[in-house]
Amino acid sequence: MKDDVLFQITRENLETGLRGYPVGYCSTSYVDPQKGLFYRGIPVETLANTSPEEVIYLLYYGKESDKDSLRVFKQELCTLSQCSKIVLEQIRKLPRDTSPMKLFSCALLLTGMFSESFNYEHDCLQIIAQAPILAAQVIAHHAGWGEIRPSMPELGYIENFCQMLNMPLNPSQDFLDVMKLFNILHYDHGGGNLSTFVAKAVASGLEDMYGSLAAGVLALEGPRHGRANQDCFEFVQLVLQTVGESATEEHVEQLIRTKLAKGELVFGFGHAVLRVEDPRAQIFYDFCEKRYPVHPLVKISRYLRKAGQTVLKENSKIQDPYPNVDAISGVALVVSGFSFPQYMSVLFAMSRMVGISRQIVYERCEARDRKGTPIVRPKYFYLGNEEVSG
Ligand code: MLT
Repeated sequence: MKDDVLFQITRENLETGLRGYPVGYCSTSYVDPQKGLFYRGIPVETLANTSPEEVIYLLYYGKESDKDSLRVFKQELCTLSQCSKIVLEQIRKLPRDTSPMKLFSCALLLTGMFSESFNYEHDCLQIIAQAPILAAQVIAHHAGWGEIRPSMPELGYIENFCQMLNMPLNPSQDFLDVMKLFNILHYDHGGGNLSTFVAKAVASGLEDMYGSLAAGVLALEGPRHGRANQDCFEFVQLVLQTVGESATEEHVEQLIRTKLAKGELVFGFGHAVLRVEDPRAQIFYDFCEKRYPVHPLVKISRYLRKAGQTVLKENSKIQDPYPNVDAISGVALVVSGFSFPQYMSVLFAMSRMVGISRQIVYERCEARDRKGTPIVRPKYFYLGNEEVSG
């Protein structure tokens, strides 16, 4: 009903990062605290082993593809994936002693300068098609691997990304599989995650698609959001170095207790919405257990998964004592051959382009009977005089 009360704001809710405030509708995905992530109503677990193109089709059109529609869609992505040579050249001129996420944000702005249509729907598909080439060039440039290999989009969305990267080692099948998994599982995560919210807010001022996405990528860069996968991986590495390869679960549990007692952080647990183990994490745990069960990083992750819950559940103030996706996604990448933690956030950003850009299309072109949502403009109280807002 139109006049249903959805949320009541008290003073307690101020300065809480808008946690739980209803803002609008998200047509692409939702996160159920108990059941996890759904893309267009389908649990992400059931989509994890399909192709990236099928899942992108689902998110973009809101329905599953058939053989013919998928073929046409793949062709469209191939055509749109042609990225201007000037953009790639300009990326290679950017300073290398900065963060890869800042480079990726610049790459989006450059793409907008050279190939923007000022049509959100067109630019949504174009950026989805070009995200792999931009991410590959950003990573290769920052890593010093030079120019990327020529794009061969007909190989497939992720196959092409992996071959373009020009990594020192040739990608293995496990590498391709984990990259697909990582890509699919990070496309979207409801409407309120920081990068998506920020990008939609910027677009609400009628900034174009590329500028809005560039802002979203910077929102994704921080350690509380996109860089969490790198930080969690480095935490697992540190735990391994501290307890050693022959450690038991008890050793890891003891380490967690010691860290918490010293007020130090234990990474990889808890989520803003979820109140169960993140199903995306379960998929990565299964991947690692199946393919690399004796790898020391996998062993430590297994112990952290169990011991972390045991310890955190003892504190009744902790609402979500379960592992999140970042607890294991980085380990899955590294054991499969992507041993470059500094680029994990770029991989996240590359996949999130799908969900964010499609959500921008919804808000700009479909919401409110196609009029679009108004400019974002919340209210702040002037500190010292709450009657005055600004
Ligand atoms: C995400 O995938 O965006 C993260 O889990 C963060 C969030 O949903 O707030």
